[in-house]
Amino acid sequence: MSSNQLDKKSEAWSALFSEPMSELVKRYTASVFFDKRLWQADIEGSLAHAEMLAAQGIIGPSDHADIQRGMAQIAQEIESGAFEWKLDLEDVHLNIEARLTQLVGDAGKRLHTGRSRNDQVATDVRLWLRGEIDLIGGLLTELQRALVDVAEKNVEVILPGFTHLQVAQPVSFAHHLLAYVEMFSRDAERFADVRRRTNRLPLGSAALAGTTYPLDRERVARTLGMVDENGAPAVCQNSLDGVSDRDFAIEFTAAASLCMVHISRLSEELILWMSQNFGFVKIADRFTTGSSIMPQKKNPDVPELARGKTGRVVGHLMGLITLMKGQPLAYNKDNQEDKEPLFDTVDTLTDTLRIFAEMVGGQLNPATGAKEGGLTVNAPAMEAAAQKGYATATDLADYLVKKGLPFRDAHETVAHAVKAATSHNCDLSELPLTVLQGFHPSIEKDVYEVLSLRGSLSARHTLGGTAPAQVRAQIARHRARLG
Ligand code: ARG
Repeated sequence: MSSNQLDKKSEAWSALFSEPMSELVKRYTASVFFDKRLWQADIEGSLAHAEMLAAQGIIGPSDHADIQRGMAQIAQEIESGAFEWKLDLEDVHLNIEARLTQLVGDAGKRLHTGRSRNDQVATDVRLWLRGEIDLIGGLLTELQRALVDVAEKNVEVILPGFTHLQVAQPVSFAHHLLAYVEMFSRDAERFADVRRRTNRLPLGSAALAGTTYPLDRERVARTLGMVDENGAPAVCQNSLDGVSDRDFAIEFTAAASLCMVHISRLSEELILWMSQNFGFVKIADRFTTGSSIMPQKKNPDVPELARGKTGRVVGHLMGLITLMKGQPLAYNKDNQEDKEPLFDTVDTLTDTLRIFAEMVGGQLNPATGAKEGGLTVNAPAMEAAAQKGYATATDLADYLVKKGLPFRDAHETVAHAVKAATSHNCDLSELPLTVLQGFHPSIEKDVYEVLSLRGSLSARHTLGGTAPAQVRAQIARHRARLG
């Protein structure tokens, strides 16, 4: 498209067209009001392309210099807010190219040699997403550090562990938090893996079939830092696939969905733990709101919203994957619809991770150098809850097994003991020794150590178990890993 045509997009697209688009169709097809977010990647990609065109002798050095000068000014205009984005120019690519041509004339028109918006947009989205993935990696590290910080202070704090949301066995609160650290560390691995496939260069695929100009695609890849783990240029190897592949966006959104699901599970627990019936933790007031009618309330809005926003991100995954289904090769305009879900996924995830790192770990007080205002833990409430519900019944069964009973018999014997304790409305550890011996004569005084929460905890000393020594070893491992 010539600069004249770019300037006059309010008229017909080109000489071939007998009428301009209607206003409604223009609005329907334009993407500039959301894809302008890609401007930095667009300029970066264009500069790498121009540099290669010059190196290959496809454009002259003065055209290259003009393009560099024009792009520098455009970047400045966009940053300062002076740049005028025009709906008539449809998308970020045409807006920037038109302004470049306005500023530097023919050199601007030569930039698009050997390139199409199809490979241009695919390159822009990949470059932009690569940066966001790096940001997310950092935020995941912050959140994991915050969880490890709280875990470190709560190794000896005991809460009831649940299965089926029924009291099951006592666990260390640190152990519970470290379960989330495991989830978020797998999320970080997944994002790192998605990054490898995102960081590949479509540019040079041109519209769909490659181009007649002698492009050096590997040079462009190197300029843009699109290299594999060995430092070799990473270039999309099939032009049809290069312009139409959006797998990387879909798998990114899948990784983001899983990460949000982990956030949502943590949210659900925080919401439960903050309710009056549990009273296990408090989050700082700045993450809660009051009720307009019930003056006593403090609502856990942030975890609730995070749980809700998880649905939104999972919805984006459904949107993107459905967008691809049924598209014939190669590029189709359908792909323009990849941006809003992708942008919103990134915004939702990054905001959520930032808020959660602060809500769990607190905010740095520059005066003291310490973090303040993170999660407040009510250890006595957790422990009191662990005392209810016969959390150490399995320990009694294990005790009897060690005395020679087969496990199934021990299980049945303890069921009788629990029934008796229930009818006395007391814990197993509160039954007198003579009563316990009535269930099995092998029971001795040392049973009370086994029936204690602390005894139960430290007995689970297998790798990955909740014994404080194991939990401390895990904390050390995470610290070394997270730096
Ligand atoms: N705005 C378009 C997109 O986001 C750019 C590519 C358009 N290419 C085309 N041939 N119409 O996908």
